[in-house]
Amino acid sequence: MHWTRTIQRCAMPLFLGISALIGVHPTAAAQAASQPTGNEWWRHAVIYEIYPRSFQDSNGDGIGDLKGIASRLDYLHDLGIDAIWLTPIYPSPGVDYGYDISNYTAIDPVYGTMADFENLVAEAKKRNIRILMDYVINHTSDQNPWFVESRSSRDNPKRNWYVWHDGKGETATDKGQPPNNWQSWFGGSAWQWDEKTRQYYYHYFYVQQPDLNWRNPEVRKAMYGVLDFWMQRGTAGFRIDAVSRLFEDPELRNDPYLPGHNAYGDRNIQHKYTDDLPEVHDVLKEVRGVVDKYPGDPVLVTEADEPNVAALTKMYGEHNDEVQLPMDFQIADVNELSAPRFRELFNEIESNTAHGQPEYFFSNHDQRRQWDRYGDGKHNDEIAKLMAVLELTTRGTPQMYYGEELGMRTTDPARIEDVHDPIGKRGWPKEKGRDGERTPMQWTDGSNAGFTSPGVKPWLPIPPSAKEDNVEVESKDPNSIYNAYKRLLSLRKTNPALRDGTQTTINNNDPDVFAFLRRDGDATVLVALNMSAKSRTVAFHLDEYGVHGAQLAPLYSTTGQSGSLATSRVELAPFAALVAQVQ
Ligand code: GLC
Repeated sequence: MHWTRTIQRCAMPLFLGISALIGVHPTAAAQAASQPTGNEWWRHAVIYEIYPRSFQDSNGDGIGDLKGIASRLDYLHDLGIDAIWLTPIYPSPGVDYGYDISNYTAIDPVYGTMADFENLVAEAKKRNIRILMDYVINHTSDQNPWFVESRSSRDNPKRNWYVWHDGKGETATDKGQPPNNWQSWFGGSAWQWDEKTRQYYYHYFYVQQPDLNWRNPEVRKAMYGVLDFWMQRGTAGFRIDAVSRLFEDPELRNDPYLPGHNAYGDRNIQHKYTDDLPEVHDVLKEVRGVVDKYPGDPVLVTEADEPNVAALTKMYGEHNDEVQLPMDFQIADVNELSAPRFRELFNEIESNTAHGQPEYFFSNHDQRRQWDRYGDGKHNDEIAKLMAVLELTTRGTPQMYYGEELGMRTTDPARIEDVHDPIGKRGWPKEKGRDGERTPMQWTDGSNAGFTSPGVKPWLPIPPSAKEDNVEVESKDPNSIYNAYKRLLSLRKTNPALRDGTQTTINNNDPDVFAFLRRDGDATVLVALNMSAKSRTVAFHLDEYGVHGAQLAPLYSTTGQSGSLATSRVELAPFAALVAQVQ
C-alpha cells in the first residue's frame, strides 16, 4: 500500500488554543524551544528504522525483541548509522501491531523488559547511537485503561478523553446512523457504536484504535507525561505518529466525496475535516516545549504525509518551534525513476526559504520496499544502488528502513489465512496489506536467515530472496548493495560538502539524468544519477554555477568509474550513479 492520499488543508478558523489551561502556552513553548545552532547531532545523522518484531529474535519465539536488537548494535555501528527509530514496543493487543497502545510507559513482554530497554539505550550510547521512540499520539488501544474507563459510563471522568457523539436519528431502540460520513483510514465508517452507553466513538484508524480527544487538557497533560517518562530514560527524541490526524471539526461537517472508490469499496473521500486542522500546530509547539527541557538536542520527527512543500514547511513552526524533521512523503512517493520529477521537487525544497532540515526516506513499515517500488523488474539491484546514492548524498537527514541496505524486497503473504496486517485482512486480495515490507531481517543464508533459532516458525515467513540477499553474503561481495550503502554512509560523514554543503540542481533540462552539486566553501561534489535505461554521455558546464574545475575525481560510482573524468564528457551507463569531487 502506498501510504498516500489526497488531502487538502481545510480553511477553518483558528480555534482558541487550550494550552494556557494546562500551563504550556504556545508562546512560552516557543520561547523554551532551543534556538538552532546549526550543528545539532541530527543534522548530520542517519536514522535507521527498526521494526522490532522483525529485526532479531533472541529467545526463540519467532518474534524479534530488544535483546536481539542490542546484539546487533555492532552491525549497525559498523554500517554507519547514528540513530535508531524503534516502532512501538509498548504493551499492545497487537491489532495494528503495536500502534494500538494499552500502556504508554511500559515495555510489551514480547519485546522484553524495562531493564532490556535501559540496557539497549546504554549499549547504543557506547557506540554513539541514539534511540528514538515512536509516540503514537492520535489514538490508543481500546484496551487502554483510559478507554476502558471512558466507555464505562457517560459520566465517567475519562468520558471526555475520547471523541463520543450521539448518532443521527437514534431512538431508545435504534442506534440510528453514525454522526456524519467521516471514514476510517482502514475502511468503513470512522464511527463505532458502543451499546453500553449508546453513543458512537471516533476512530481514524481501526475500530480498536479510538482517537484521543486532544481538546481535553487532561489528555494533553497525560500524553506530555509520556514524553517526560521516556526522556528520563535516555531517549534522544520521538517519531510522532499520524500527527496530522489529531483534531476533527467540532461542527462535525461531512467530508467531501471524491470520484471513485477505494480498495475497501468505500467512496473516496477528502479528509477535509479530520486531517491537518490548524490546532495540530499548537500541540506540536507544546510537545517541543516538553522535550526541549532536556539536554542533548532532542529531536522530533513527524509522520504526516503533507501534500506539498508549503504544508510540509509549516511543520517546522514559524519560529522553528515545532518539529525539526518532518518526513518528506512527496519525495518518498515519487514512485517512478523520473529525473524531471525529482528535480522539480528538490528545486522546490531548495528554493523555499521557510524549509528547515529535510528528512528523506524511501521505505518504511507502511510502504512497499524501494527495491520493488523503484526497480524496473530487470535492473533492480542497480536501481537500488542509485536510490541509495540519492538518499545518502542529498542535503538532509536520511532515514533508512532495516534491510534496505541489503536490497530486501517486498514479499506479500500468499494466502489470506497468513495475513497479519488489518489492512490486508480487510482489503484482500486487492490490498494485501503491509506484511510484505515487514518480513524478518536477513542476516545469513542459513536457517531462518539467522533471524530466529532453527526450527522455530518466524512470525512472518523468511522471503526466498534471503538466500542471496543477506548480511553474511553481501558483506563479502564488494559490489553488493550492502557495500554500496556502507561506502556512501562513510562518505557522507567524512566529505565536508556532502556533510554540510548546499544543494543546487544542474543540467535542468536533461530528461534522464538528475544531477546536483553539493558545495561547502571551495569544495564541490557533483552527483549524477542516470535514471534511464539508456547509456548517456553528459557534459556539465560548471562555470555556469560559479564552480571552477574541469575534472572530476570519483568518490563513489555504481559502475566502478575511477581516475579523472572530464566534466565535459561523462559517460553514464544505464541507471548509473556517480559521486565525484570537482577538481
Ligand atoms: C501510522 C503508522 C502505521 C499505523 C497508523 C495507525 O501511520 O506508521 O503503521 O498503522 O499510524 O497508528
